[in-house]
Amino acid sequence: MKILVLGGSGLIGSKVVPILRERGHEPVAASPKSGVNSITGEGLGEAMKGASVVVDVTNSPAWEDAAVMSFFETSTRNLLKYEAAAGVKHHVALSVVGTDQLLESGYFRAKMAQEDLIKAGSVPYTIVRATQFFEFVAGIADISVEGGKVHLAPVLFQPIAADDVASAVARAALEAPVNGTVDVGGPEAFRLDELVRRRLAQLKDPREVIADPNARYSGAKVSERTLVPGKNARLGQTSFEVWVTQPAAKQAAAAH
Ligand SMILES: NC(=O)c1ccc[n+]([C@@H]2O[C@H](COP(=O)([O-])OP(=O)(O)OC[C@H]3O[C@@H](n4cnc5c(N)ncnc54)[C@H](OP(=O)(O)O)[C@@H]3O)[C@@H](O)[C@H]2O)c1
Repeated sequence: MKILVLGGSGLIGSKVVPILRERGHEPVAASPKSGVNSITGEGLGEAMKGASVVVDVTNSPAWEDAAVMSFFETSTRNLLKYEAAAGVKHHVALSVVGTDQLLESGYFRAKMAQEDLIKAGSVPYTIVRATQFFEFVAGIADISVEGGKVHLAPVLFQPIAADDVASAVARAALEAPVNGTVDVGGPEAFRLDELVRRRLAQLKDPREVIADPNARYSGAKVSERTLVPGKNARLGQTSFEVWVTQPAAKQAAAAH
């Protein structure tokens, strides 16, 4: 089966492609670097020829409210239009657990818009909603600085290894469309402030982490369970403790 992976050069996309290949399929990684652009439409028609499934693991290059909304709306509309024309049978998109509860954030309003377009479209779909990647835990500190300190609400937090997200996305691509959402999370829950504090210590990042019940996540209020997956979630196998010993953690540290 030919499976087009939009965002195939990204963190998740570059892990999804080899999994699909190992399972005997024909994944094609596509992104602007390989001449396929979901915003301009460049290369989309050609890339979709003969594809049964399209996996969308793109991300917006710019995160300001208007830019990210424009990215996910335009990209999703284009993908769905070309998919319908090419007879693609399944659209798989990666979104984020709690998106519908984080709408004070411009980023999450854009992810919600992406999900709504998919649901309203004519192509059968599966939306995989993942919790935050282990690779992104230190990045959460960067977006949560107030007055030089990292302010985080001490809410439950159940992040997952990017490898496990990629396995879940590949699995969704090979199963029938659910025309709904599948939640994916890590194997254990932490307190958000505690895990970010632990990760910064591992990275020898001296920033202090304050447990602040009023702190926002990406600009949005969070409650106890906003960042944890639902009851029937598929859970990754890699624990945070094991992940920190793996090459992926060293790569994430180098990128920090
Ligand atoms: N970070 C988290 O904790 C988290 C949690 C849950 C879900 N997610 C979701 O996971 C998804 C993937 O994230 P990621 O970290 O793997 O992304 P990433 O590493 O930033 O990769 C983004 C990908 O999008 C591609 N792209 C950008 N503009 C494009 C365009 N116009 N047309 C086609 N492709 C384009 C990039 O291609 P080039 O390399 O060619 O530029 C790259 O392959 C996102 O949608 C995000 O919302 C993230």
